[in-house]
Amino acid sequence: MADLERLKEEAARRAVTLVRSGMRVGLGTGSTAKYAILAIGERVASGDLRDIVGVATSDASEALARQLGIPVEPLDPRPLDLAIDGADEIDPGLNLIKGLGGALLREKLTEVQARRLVIIADHTKVVTRLGEKAPLPVEIARFGFLSTIERLRGLVPGGRLRQPGAQPYVTDNGNYIYDAQLPQSFDPATLERQLKGTLGVVETGFFLGMAELAFVAAPEGVRELGR
Ligand code: A5P
Repeated sequence: MADLERLKEEAARRAVTLVRSGMRVGLGTGSTAKYAILAIGERVASGDLRDIVGVATSDASEALARQLGIPVEPLDPRPLDLAIDGADEIDPGLNLIKGLGGALLREKLTEVQARRLVIIADHTKVVTRLGEKAPLPVEIARFGFLSTIERLRGLVPGGRLRQPGAQPYVTDNGNYIYDAQLPQSFDPATLERQLKGTLGVVETGFFLGMAELAFVAAPEGVRELGR
């Protein structure tokens, strides 16, 4: 297993020790969250975890959880005991950029209801300011997307529609994603408000003040970061 994959798995396994029988757990999306779902699946299969319910943040995570025998329910208004997910960037205050995997809307809808959002990542995701390495994914409606992008460029000039091949990338919710290049200096809360106030924007990949704990795996071990 490549080094980074081993680190992601180590972080995921640490977070999964927080899962207890009877919990309702938010299941994240992405290559790191996948290890958490696998580890929960192992504990369910061994009988160590009973009566747990997973609420999945993407069709892919739901399919994986079901395959592993983890009961999955749709999101409803009840709180979740815990949610475990990856991130694209983690700043010193545990503010995050998420959504390079395209699941930001369902992730935010799910994780805002979690009593604890625990982030798992390898050390390359830690930054001193958001936008240092990753673009900010912004989910936008397909209808009129070129007009929405024009409006977005008024706020964040750099960026582009996510288009891995001939066609734009389509989220599980049927929307497009605009990957915005963040400026050197900005206030995330202000930009979040401005983006959310832009016609055509469905959600942004800023997860501000949501995470309580992060397990960050580096070659020298797993660090626990709190707020
Ligand atoms: C999915 O939309 C994202 O928010 C992921 O949680 C994030 O992109 C981290 O993914 P990796 O664990 O694959 O880096």
